[in-house]
Amino acid sequence: MSVTVGIHDLAVATAGHTLALDALAAYNGTDPGKYRVGLGQDQMSVPGPDEDIVTMGAAAARAVLDRHGADGIRTLLLATESGVDQSKAAGVPVHALLGLPSTCRVVEFKQACYSATAALQAAAGLIARDRSERVLVIAADVARYELDSAAEATQGAGAVAMLVTADPAIAVLEHATGIHTADVDDFWRPNDSPTAVVDGKLSVEAYLDGIVRAWDDYRAHGGSPIDQIDRFCHHQPFTRMAVKAHRRLAEHVGVALDEGLIDVTTGYNRRIGNSYTASLYLALAALLDGADDLDGARVGMFSYGSGAVSEFFSLVVQPGYRSALRGAETEALLAARTPVDVARYRELHAGAALDSRFDVDTPVDSRGPFRFAGIRGRARRYAAN
Ligand code: COA
Repeated sequence: MSVTVGIHDLAVATAGHTLALDALAAYNGTDPGKYRVGLGQDQMSVPGPDEDIVTMGAAAARAVLDRHGADGIRTLLLATESGVDQSKAAGVPVHALLGLPSTCRVVEFKQACYSATAALQAAAGLIARDRSERVLVIAADVARYELDSAAEATQGAGAVAMLVTADPAIAVLEHATGIHTADVDDFWRPNDSPTAVVDGKLSVEAYLDGIVRAWDDYRAHGGSPIDQIDRFCHHQPFTRMAVKAHRRLAEHVGVALDEGLIDVTTGYNRRIGNSYTASLYLALAALLDGADDLDGARVGMFSYGSGAVSEFFSLVVQPGYRSALRGAETEALLAARTPVDVARYRELHAGAALDSRFDVDTPVDSRGPFRFAGIRGRARRYAAN
């Protein structure tokens, strides 16, 4: 018997500081139009010294648990590019901060910006085995490139927590999915590097190749024809990339796709910046919060993670979904960030890579529910604020 599985709740978190890209443009002598129009970015979230993927991921998940409780959650999947340990899953300290029961498996998923989609599919598989299970999927990332690099303006930080259940209130995950994997060196992060290594132009091409190949596989596996897809969310390493993706898909399929169908999806990412695995789900949150009535709408989702794995899948928005949304909360979070100037942003960037051989207490800086308290005996410590 097939089980209806999907997203029952979705909550957003981001870092406590924000840098206006106009300020970065003024600092490095770039025309601000390049960032605002060419990349489609206005701001980026910047983590303080006591923020990371654990604190953001736990903050997003806290909101979900406050509304729905922890009953039936036997799995927590945390997807990230910016892991804080080579061995221990970042979801384990999240599990502790949230006070989840010990009868809950926790594991980390990694594949650049793609892994949250794998986590969502894995969650659906678990629920197909036992429809009473609810799975907590967390996508959390800090996108960090080298200072003064071409990629610098495409940094950011954010998290999305999703409660995946049978009979979801927000959106049902459709069965058909299209996948494409190719070994490409377009973006990666060596174990000894706090910043990603990227061939930006190659990454754009690999992404555009990924969307058409994943689309073809989606169709070959029973996915809906393009004229039965009402809205599209494309992964947004910078929001202009969604426009490029949409045009490439239209050209490939041989139809004229209305670019207005993706506009509203960029609302949060324009202000948060790249949040790697969380980015696609921030696009979904922006669509749900910002569009008019989507009852019954089919949303095409394109997930891309450099390296490279692509997946095209679809969701169907559920009648009455609006009562499950959190648009006002997300707006409040974005508005509450502290603006920083370029000098402070550069200090925070430089201070992010800590040497675990030295114990340290991080200053209390963030106003979120949880903070990274420092390092003791080479282990990262977390606390509630
Ligand atoms: N006003 C408006 N648009 C402007 C402009 C101005 N003053 N100056 C430049 N632009 C446009 C360019 O024409 C270009 O548009 P196009 O992509 O439609 O051709 C866009 O701004 C970007 O300019 P470009 O010179 O290509 O930027 P760049 O080489 O400095 O870097 C990336 C862009 C994306 C390659 C770089 O930010 C990067 O490496 N980011 C990280 C990797 C990434 O995000 N990859 C995405 C796929 S995963």
